[in-house]
Amino acid sequence: MDKYIIRGENRLHGTVDISGAKNAVVAILPATVLAGDVCRIENIPNIADVNTALEILAELGCGVRRIDRHTVEIDSTTIVTQTVSHDLAKKMRASYYFIGALLGRFGRARVPMPGGCYFGVRPIDQHLKGFACLGATVSPMKDGMIDAHADKMVGSSVYLDMVSVGATVNIMLAAVYAEGLTVIENAAKEPHIVDLANFLNSMGADIRGAGTDVIKIRGVSRLYGTTYSIIPDQIEAGTYMAAAVATHGDVTVRNVIPKHLESITAKLQEMGATIEEFDEEIRVSCPDKTRHCNVKTMPHPGFPTDMQPQIAVLLTMAEGTSIINEGVWENRFRYVDELRRMGAEIQVDGKLAVVQGDSQLTGAPVKAMDLRAGAAMVLAALAAKGVTEIEEIQFIERGYEDLVEKLRGLGADIRRVTEEELVIKQA
Ligand code: EPZ
Repeated sequence: MDKYIIRGENRLHGTVDISGAKNAVVAILPATVLAGDVCRIENIPNIADVNTALEILAELGCGVRRIDRHTVEIDSTTIVTQTVSHDLAKKMRASYYFIGALLGRFGRARVPMPGGCYFGVRPIDQHLKGFACLGATVSPMKDGMIDAHADKMVGSSVYLDMVSVGATVNIMLAAVYAEGLTVIENAAKEPHIVDLANFLNSMGADIRGAGTDVIKIRGVSRLYGTTYSIIPDQIEAGTYMAAAVATHGDVTVRNVIPKHLESITAKLQEMGATIEEFDEEIRVSCPDKTRHCNVKTMPHPGFPTDMQPQIAVLLTMAEGTSIINEGVWENRFRYVDELRRMGAEIQVDGKLAVVQGDSQLTGAPVKAMDLRAGAAMVLAALAAKGVTEIEEIQFIERGYEDLVEKLRGLGADIRRVTEEELVIKQA
C-alpha cells in the first residue's frame, strides 16, 4: 500500500485553496437522480468518494460527463435500474443516500448496507423510520440489501430521535416528490444540509427551513436540470487551520465561508492562535506555545466531531491538560493508539479523553484508522521531530483533494511513496 513520508518541524506558511465540501457533494450527486434532466455540478472535490458516487450514477444508467477536474454533468433521464451493486456501495458510507433519491423518484430502491468509517455502531434506523413515515415499505434485510418500495410517497411529519445528518439528507431526498407536506423535526443543521436544500430548490423543489431544526418539504410534480456550485469544505478548511497551529506557522485558507468555521475559529483562538477573518479567507498564525482547553463535539453549530481527532493532536502539544468529550459518536478515539506511538499521552474512557499537554511528538510508523484519524496523523507528523511514515492513506484520500500538493505548497516536507517504490528500495 502507498504511504506518506513526512519529516516534521517545518512551520507551514502561505495560502491554500479549499476544495468543495465532501459531505455536501456526496449528498448532491445522488440527488441528481431526482432531476430526470441534466445537472451541471461545479466545484466538486477530486476525491475518491466523488469517483465512487459517479460510478454508482453511471451504473444506474445516468450519463456522466466530466467537464474538468471540478465540474461534471449528470443526465438522469436514462436511468435503467434502481439497484446499486455491493462492489460500489461498500466503498462509501454515503452510498445509502441513493435509497432516498431512488425511492423519491421511482418508489423503489435496492441499496446495500453502507460501508465507511467505523466509530462503533452506525445504525440507520432513523432513515428507515423516515421512509416508513412517507409510506415506503422496507423489506427485511436480505443479502445485505436494503429493499424499499412505495406505491405512492405521501408527505408526513418525522421527528428524529437524535440529530442525524444522514437521516435528514435521506428523508429530504425521499420527500421531494411526496404528495403534500413533509416536516422533519430535530433536523441536522450542518452547512451541507443547507447546500443540499439549495441544490434541490434550484431544481424546482420546495424546501424551507434548512439550517434550522425544522425542515418543511412540499412535494412537487417535477424537477428540472440546474447548474450548481458546491460550498467549500468546512472540515478541510479546519484541518489546514489546525495544521497552521500544529506547526506554529502562518497560513491563510482561501475560498471558505467563515460563518461555517465559527466553532473551529473560536476553539483555536481559545488555545491562543491569532485569527483574522476576511470575506472568503481566514488567516491563522500561532505563537510558540498554545494553551490547553476542553472540547465537546456536538451537531452544528457545535464543535464538529469531524475535527475531533485533529484538535486532539493540538492539545497534546498545548500547555496543561485538556478534556475531549465526543458528543456524537460511540467510539471516535481509534486514532489514540497511533498517536501514542508518537509520544502522545492520552487516556480514553468511553466518550471522554484526557489529553496530557506539553508533549514533544516524535516521528514513527503509524496508520490512518479512518478519514479524520488519518488527517490527525498527518498533523502530528508535521509537528513531530523526525520522520513519520503513514500507511492506509487511502482513507485520507477519500476526503482530502491533493493533500500532498497542498501541504508542499505550504512548505511541508511530505511525499507519497508507492508500494512499488518501497519494494525497489528494500530490494
Ligand atoms: C455524517 O455521518 C458525516 N458523513 C460524518 O462525517 C459526520 O461525522 C456525521 O455526519 C456527524 O456530523 C457524511 O456526511 C457522509 P449522523 P452520518 O447520522 O450521517 C446516530 C467524515 O469524516 N444515528 O449525523 O452517518 C449515529 O450512530 C464523516 O466526513 C442513529 O442512531 O452521521 C451517531 O451517533 C465521518 N441512527 C449520530 O446519530 C440513525 O439512523 C449522528 O450520526 C442515524 C444516526
